[in-house]
Amino acid sequence: MAENPTVKLGVLISGTGSNLQAIIDAILRGDLKAEIRLVISNRPDAQGLERARRHGIETAVIEHRKFPSREDFDRAVLAALRDRSVELVALAGFMRLLSPVMLDAFPGRVMNIHNSLLPSFPGIHGPKDAIEYGVKIAGCTVFFVTPGVDVGPVIVQAAVPVMPGDDEQLLAARILEQEHRIFPHAISLFQQGRLEIRGRQVIIRGDSSTTPSSSPLVNPAVIDSKS
Ligand code: GRF
Repeated sequence: MAENPTVKLGVLISGTGSNLQAIIDAILRGDLKAEIRLVISNRPDAQGLERARRHGIETAVIEHRKFPSREDFDRAVLAALRDRSVELVALAGFMRLLSPVMLDAFPGRVMNIHNSLLPSFPGIHGPKDAIEYGVKIAGCTVFFVTPGVDVGPVIVQAAVPVMPGDDEQLLAARILEQEHRIFPHAISLFQQGRLEIRGRQVIIRGDSSTTPSSSPLVNPAVIDSKS
C-alpha cells in the first residue's frame, strides 16, 4: 500500500512550547512523517519560538492584542498558514480561542491538546481543577477543535494517577509527560489518513498496532487478598 505523504503542519503556541518540542523530536526520530512549515506565537516572548528557531523552523509572531477583533487576528494567522500550504494546524499550548474564520478554513484539521480527561475540567486550570474536585485519575486529551472551549471530538487520551500530596505543579508535570506522547501520536494517525470524524466520535481505522491496551488504571490500587 502506498504510504501517505508528509503532512504539512502549522503549530500555534503561546508559551513554553514543550509540546512543540515533542512534535519536533517525533519528526527527528522518524516516528512522525510531518514537516513543520511555520510556528506562530501570539506572544513575542514565547519560549517555544526559540525552540523552533534552533531547529531551523520558520517562526512568526502575530500579536493578538494588535488586532481589533478575534476575527482580524484569525485572518492574519490564516493568511500566514495558507501562504505555507499548511494542511493541519496543531495548537500546542496556544491560549486563544479560534473563531469560525480559522475553523471554517480548516474543517476537521485543527487539533488541540488539553491537560485533563475531557469533558472533565475544560479551561485553563485542568490539573488544579482535577485536584480540587478530588478525582483519583487525571490525564490529557487530544481533540479536533470545534467552536467552544475544549469540546471537540476526542482523538486520543492518556490517564495518569493523582497521587496523595500532589499539588498543581506535580500533577501538571505528570500529565505533560503523557501529552508529549499522545500529541505526536494523534498527528501521526492523521498523517496516515486513519482518522474519521463521525459526529462526536473519531473512528481510528487501521491495524492492530492501535488496539487499545486493556489494562485498567486503578487508583488507589485494589489489594487482592488472595494474591
Ligand atoms: C500544556 O499542558 C497544554 O495541555 C496546555 O498548556 C500547556 C502547554 O505546554 N494547554 P507547552 O507550551 O506545550 O509546554
